[in-house]
Amino acid sequence: MTDPVVKETAALEKPKGHKRLERNVTLLSAVTLVAVAIGGIVEIAPLFWIDNTIEKVEGMRPYTPLELAGRDIYIREGCYTCHSQMIRPFRDEVERYGHYSLAAESMYDHPFQWGSKRTGPDLARVGGRYSDEWHVQHLKDPQSVVPESIMPTYSFLSETPLEIADPAANLKALQRLGVPYTEEHIANAESDLKLQAAEFGSAAELEARYPKSQMRDYDGDPSRLTEMDALVAYLQMLGTLVDVNSAAAQEELAEEKGR
Ligand code: HEC
Repeated sequence: MTDPVVKETAALEKPKGHKRLERNVTLLSAVTLVAVAIGGIVEIAPLFWIDNTIEKVEGMRPYTPLELAGRDIYIREGCYTCHSQMIRPFRDEVERYGHYSLAAESMYDHPFQWGSKRTGPDLARVGGRYSDEWHVQHLKDPQSVVPESIMPTYSFLSETPLEIADPAANLKALQRLGVPYTEEHIANAESDLKLQAAEFGSAAELEARYPKSQMRDYDGDPSRLTEMDALVAYLQMLGTLVDVNSAAAQEELAEEKGR
């Protein structure tokens, strides 16, 4: 049996090594801070040296001025509070919405519209799924096409003329954030905005600047350029730019190479 006095003196001896670290709050905090800082630097520092964390895929291009105006209306009206734009790689989602979303498909989105709530369906690949007339009717009165819909009506969009104070400035701001708009895009922003929703002018000219752009009157009223034109142009473009099957293969290949 050990003498209780001897035991006590042993406990009073100065603790060493890890024991000392664990018993001294100030020392423990200081050393923890150092350990976490090293971990942080290892994670964050490489991001300053690589140019891009997203693999480029073929077909992705910046938005046309009209699509961009539609996107701004989409954000203004809070469509993202009910709709996501990101198809996750799960079987139920892929079967319902199409190929899962690729990172590159939202690389020119500032801010991205992935969303965190799906009261309505995902819209990442809604482009081309319905006719323009369907979209116009649905936005004006959702219950007239989907009787059980709880989506609010946006009929005022058809009556509101599209007024963009300075389309070129919008492109310039995005260019500053890294979206590859050229000087030609910016110089033609104002005319391209009107051109895309019109039934005159040259579609080839718009296509040259924005491949796969669709040029037509979207809202059923060729005499006016309305917010409805812009929003429907935006919806009809969603998910139509990238040939996803070949692009997904490209992305996977790049990922494997990077490993
Ligand atoms: C309160 C939630 C809510 C808001 C806000 C909302 N929606 Fe919806 N949306 C729904 C619901 C629910 C559906 C499914 C029923 C239907 O088709 O109407 C839907 C369906 C849709 C569809 C058809 C999708 C498909 O694949 O069938 C489109 C397109 C759409 N919404 C666009 C929009 C746009 C654009 C806005 C903003 C101007 C918007 N929604 C705002 C709830 C909402």
